[in-house]
Amino acid sequence: MKRVKAFANNSVPLQGALQNAGRIHFGPLDRWINDPTGLVYCEGVYHLFYQLNPNGREWGNMHWGHAVSSNLVQWQQRPIAIAPHPELGMAFTGSVVVDSTNTSGLFPRSSTGFVAFLTTALPSDDGDHLVQTQSIALSHDQGETWEWYPRNPVIPNGGRRDFRDPKVFRHRESNRWIACISCGDEICFYGSKDLLEWGHLSSYQIDAVPDVCECPDLIRFPDQPRDTWVLMYSLAHDPDGHGAGVRYAVGEFDGLRFIAGSAGERKLDFGSDFYAAQSWYALPAGADPIVVAWANNSAYSHKLPELRKELTGMMTLPRRLSLVDGVDGPALRQQTVTSSIPHDHRAALPAITTEGETRFSSIRGAFPFQLEIRERTDGADRADRADRAVSVVISLESGSASRLEGPAYLRCSYDRAAETLTVTREPDTESELEPLRRTDRIDTRGFEGPFELLLFIEKGIAEFFLFGGRAVATYQWVSAVDDLQLRISGNTGALQISGETIRLPREEKGGDV
Ligand code: FRU
Repeated sequence: MKRVKAFANNSVPLQGALQNAGRIHFGPLDRWINDPTGLVYCEGVYHLFYQLNPNGREWGNMHWGHAVSSNLVQWQQRPIAIAPHPELGMAFTGSVVVDSTNTSGLFPRSSTGFVAFLTTALPSDDGDHLVQTQSIALSHDQGETWEWYPRNPVIPNGGRRDFRDPKVFRHRESNRWIACISCGDEICFYGSKDLLEWGHLSSYQIDAVPDVCECPDLIRFPDQPRDTWVLMYSLAHDPDGHGAGVRYAVGEFDGLRFIAGSAGERKLDFGSDFYAAQSWYALPAGADPIVVAWANNSAYSHKLPELRKELTGMMTLPRRLSLVDGVDGPALRQQTVTSSIPHDHRAALPAITTEGETRFSSIRGAFPFQLEIRERTDGADRADRADRAVSVVISLESGSASRLEGPAYLRCSYDRAAETLTVTREPDTESELEPLRRTDRIDTRGFEGPFELLLFIEKGIAEFFLFGGRAVATYQWVSAVDDLQLRISGNTGALQISGETIRLPREEKGGDV
């Protein structure tokens, strides 16, 4: 969590400030945002609430912003949903459930009453920290307007320094609501019959937490062959030493406690900009869970607004999750939702191909851009392929046709012999950007099948999906240069390379706030 700060309740109008037409990564252009929060699906609409400072480009004065989508790619901004509570403080991260059977007694005439369960955070008297309590807000019109429940907080602070980010879901076997809440280095589970009275059930100790964990979420995968549960949480100081990251453990949940399986905890995204991930609540039966994350890292998120005049904050692409066999037990696979973008909104981009190199020039004009690289199979069976060297280097760099090699912002190389994908992010040279300098080595051992990489890239962000989403890495990048190109080199003869630009229909994006 960030600095302790006072908040103002006088939101300025957001006219125009949140427009972001044409981009596939959701994000206001010039207002601070962080965590996705209150993700809920209802009657064909995906709701994305998010942490927003409507008055500035820096963290503070936290409200809930609101956007809606029918396809998770094109978002329409809605009016600000929840402002700070007059006595209990800022509206921090939380979740929304639909009280379809009126368990709370608050929605006698509706089966789509929205209940937001969130942390309210008020500076302590000595200004030393934020006193965090769990509060409820209600909406009778599917998230358009909200009112505070009159008897907040519903879970008082109880002397905890860190106590936040409640994620609530319905557990049908025990016929009650469960909330997982981050409590320092533990995740606490609470239970309730009516969403209003809560009791502590159990606590789960996180393995390696140099600091506090945040934004826990417990996700159910039915019938694998029996139900499997994934506990996902964010670490502001991930043990990998690069700042913030999201981890998960696969295990079991009996309605009272979560028990992790033997594989222990894993990283969900191997890049630098994936934090505070949350899953959508109440997806249609049989749908895969879908998560989205704040595409940023608290190691430098506060510096980016100065360095980038726009794109103050954004979300990753939403991702569908499934469980697959990993080297040491079940692991998560993530696939984008961009396949929902119709064909007639994509255009293949011609590449310049010479021996050993394929180049897409002036790529900035083609954003959002999707690059697909697949190893040609040519009837080769698995054993043949394993012997065949695949080495590929993908590099996003500045430079036009006349100046071929400028600085690379992102370079990624895959070497089959080492079974490793290495991604390097090189910022411009200013020292302030130092935390952006980073190299990650992603171990691909145990990933079956031919080499396959999907890269989604647009101004300021790139997401790598490797081997059908068995490993994913997200990176923001900063560039002052207008002309960017993408070069792919290596034994490109063994690879099938295609690039396409994505053109979202304008009228469905944006909207008045
Ligand atoms: C995570 C976080 C949450 C908190 C919110 C405040 O980024 O620190 O723990 O609720 O942001 O904006």
